[in-house]
Amino acid sequence: MSDESPRKDEVLRKTVLITGASSGIGAACAEKFAIQGWNLLLTARRQDRLEALSAHLSATYGVTVNWQTLDVRRRLDVEQSLTNWQDRQIDVLINNAGLALGWGKLPDNNPDDWDTMIDTNIKGLLWMSRSVVRRMIATGQAGQIVNIGSIAGIQAYPNGAVYCASKAAVRFISDGLRQDVIEHPIRVTNIQPGFVETEFSVVRFHGDTNRAKAVYQGIKPLTGQDIADAVWYAVSAPAHVQVAEITLTATHQANATVIHRA
Ligand SMILES: NC(=O)c1ccc[n+]([C@@H]2O[C@H](COP(=O)([O-])OP(=O)(O)OC[C@H]3O[C@@H](n4cnc5c(N)ncnc54)[C@H](OP(=O)(O)O)[C@@H]3O)[C@@H](O)[C@H]2O)c1
Repeated sequence: MSDESPRKDEVLRKTVLITGASSGIGAACAEKFAIQGWNLLLTARRQDRLEALSAHLSATYGVTVNWQTLDVRRRLDVEQSLTNWQDRQIDVLINNAGLALGWGKLPDNNPDDWDTMIDTNIKGLLWMSRSVVRRMIATGQAGQIVNIGSIAGIQAYPNGAVYCASKAAVRFISDGLRQDVIEHPIRVTNIQPGFVETEFSVVRFHGDTNRAKAVYQGIKPLTGQDIADAVWYAVSAPAHVQVAEITLTATHQANATVIHRA
């Protein structure tokens, strides 16, 4: 854990807390917000990645970056991480930590993979959201929860039933939370990307990089930066505007199953 406090001239800067900041979309969001002059609270499980990214962003953009290793599946650790940062106002939470594990027909799936996906994508997102929203309500501050859902949450595809179900849950948790905080100045946004080339497919195929590469063959996929731009659009909208949902895909991807490959 790093414990750098914001300098005096920096306390007026806004702060974003990002889960899964060690790679892909989360790391791209960290850079996007650093470019915009926000202070960063970064979490993920891989300490070396967080250390390197934090050093790079604070040196390049002059913002305050704090990080903690955190496995979002552990509810008590999530609560402790927020306690460790209790003196920091969190203006935006990006619930990005997530993964797909395995590829196959549901009866053939490894139930351990189900546990990991459900615990990370649904329960981890819930633990984080609950802690941060309670704090926002207690202080009366304006805030925003940005969930990284997926087009998999709109339409199920073969061989990925449980991942799709977990992202459908993200969609409905976002819709439900938006209603439950209606009297507070708290906005809830669900970002639903199609193919984004990150470590996502390498993780899904348990480290098989050739299988992962094949996913993006013949199509120019989205990048982490494309998603970070969409997140920034939702966060930088005027205070009276709530961007509820953004769905974005590569030009040659119409939905989860209709893809044109050159
Ligand atoms: N790539 C796509 O095509 C795509 C499309 C739609 C939606 N998404 C969603 O976008 C989000 C980010 O994925 P990505 O594409 O950027 O993949 P990625 O490069 O594999 O990044 C996933 C991030 O999640 C973190 N993470 C995984 N399990 C965690 C846990 N238990 N606790 C804390 N952090 C955890 C990883 O960090 P550590 O391993 O260091 O913990 C990593 O930083 C995910 O929610 C994914 O479902 C991705």
